[in-house]
Amino acid sequence: MTATVVLGLAWGDEGKGRVCDALASDVGYVSRYSGGNNAGHTVRVGEEEFKLHLVPSGIVREGVICTIGNGVVVNPEVLVEEVRALEERGLDVRDRLKVDGRAHLIMPYHIALDSHREIALGNARIGTTNRGIGPTYEDKVARYGIRVQDIFDEGILKTKLKAALREKNAIFENVYGEEHYEVSELASWLLSFKEFIEPMVADTGTMLRDALENRERVLLEGGQATLLDNDHGTYPFVTSSNPTVGGAVVGSGIPARHLEYVVGVTKAYTTRVGDGPMPTELFDETGEIIRSVGREYGTTTGRARRVGWLDLPAIKWAASLNGITHVAITLLDVLSAVDEIKICVGYEIDGKAVEGYPMHQTDLHHARPVYKTVPGWGEDITWCRMRGDLPEAAQDFVAFVEAEVGTPVCMISVGPERDQAIVERIGI
Ligand code: GDP
Ligand code: IMO
Ligand code: MG
Repeated sequence: MTATVVLGLAWGDEGKGRVCDALASDVGYVSRYSGGNNAGHTVRVGEEEFKLHLVPSGIVREGVICTIGNGVVVNPEVLVEEVRALEERGLDVRDRLKVDGRAHLIMPYHIALDSHREIALGNARIGTTNRGIGPTYEDKVARYGIRVQDIFDEGILKTKLKAALREKNAIFENVYGEEHYEVSELASWLLSFKEFIEPMVADTGTMLRDALENRERVLLEGGQATLLDNDHGTYPFVTSSNPTVGGAVVGSGIPARHLEYVVGVTKAYTTRVGDGPMPTELFDETGEIIRSVGREYGTTTGRARRVGWLDLPAIKWAASLNGITHVAITLLDVLSAVDEIKICVGYEIDGKAVEGYPMHQTDLHHARPVYKTVPGWGEDITWCRMRGDLPEAAQDFVAFVEAEVGTPVCMISVGPERDQAIVERIGI
């Protein structure tokens, strides 16, 4: 049957987890295809809050099979801890979670390198999550990464570790003046997870393709987001994978022809955690209000998120890049706290109005937003379950975004809980 991709249109934390959770009510499979435990996806069901880093959000839905695709980078320790913690909360995880044998493993030296590099960059730092994501993808591309399947053969594992450490140890000793890593220690560390992980390892691409041929519905859950994409995002202030729609095909191992729907998720405003340009960033009291009402603190690192008005040129560009079929607008309730709402509808760069979204990174640093100001609604909307329940000003806000993005809105979330949403599935 068909696959639906859920991906972020901005710099992450758009609420992809909760959108996936809503759409997972009638799918057979939910799969992560990119990134690793730099992601933090929140699903709230009543009083229960699940913060997922590696395990797909579908795990919260009974009976849904979840896969961690070949495009994901896996810290084995985090995987084991996350599975155990979810099982302690009563979810049957190991019966329903499969991890692709081709996925690359995040090693302790990747995390160490991530942190050394950030310190060395000083003010030019990326503001990574310090989870070793970049160095792991580098090794994958350099062809000396360690993959999940490598833990099944100690001999092969040690040979690969030796090859990987040849240059790494030279870097640790000579550039960062640090102790080197031992093959035997790393091998024992990895092998300590073997028994736990082995039954979950599968060829998840083949699983998903078979499922699609058997008319199952598959949901592909993006980590990170479009403006953090290594190719298309605000490079170098990006992650090291491709969260965009192409990454969903490569990172899950399913053919593009199966992708029928692409849901782009955006907050009703913008947030960013980490460094890099953010034209609509607010440094005033309104920004503080939005941060505090929206509880804008990172799910993974706890860092305060930078907050700004909705950046439509960026969202429209991301929508076009991913060929989205639907848009989901999240955290609309947070804007109830402000009297007047601004929406960035264009940029001025060096005093000149520009069309669209600039390609040059430096332009983005200078881009001054051109705002359209619309009235706020100033009332609680968390009870609304249909568009018609929303105050007129909120309906107008949604209609404006929908018209500008040019695809139908399939979900408007008005609170963090599963039920606090207006869902208009439109065939998805
Ligand atoms: P993800 O990484 O895209 O899955 O998003 P995160 O889970 O990192 O961040 C979204 C945050 O917003 C989480 O704390 C959610 O519980 C919260 N959230 C999601 N939707 C809503 C909403 O409609 N209203 C409010 N107030 N909070 C929401
Ligand atoms: P979810 O899936 C928000 C950001 C980091 C940093 C940059 C590079 O929850 O939306 P990395 O550790 O990937 O090398 O960091 O990317 N970043 C995220 N920001 N949400 C995420 O994931 C992120 N994953 C990475 O803050 O700016
Ligand atoms: Mg997140």
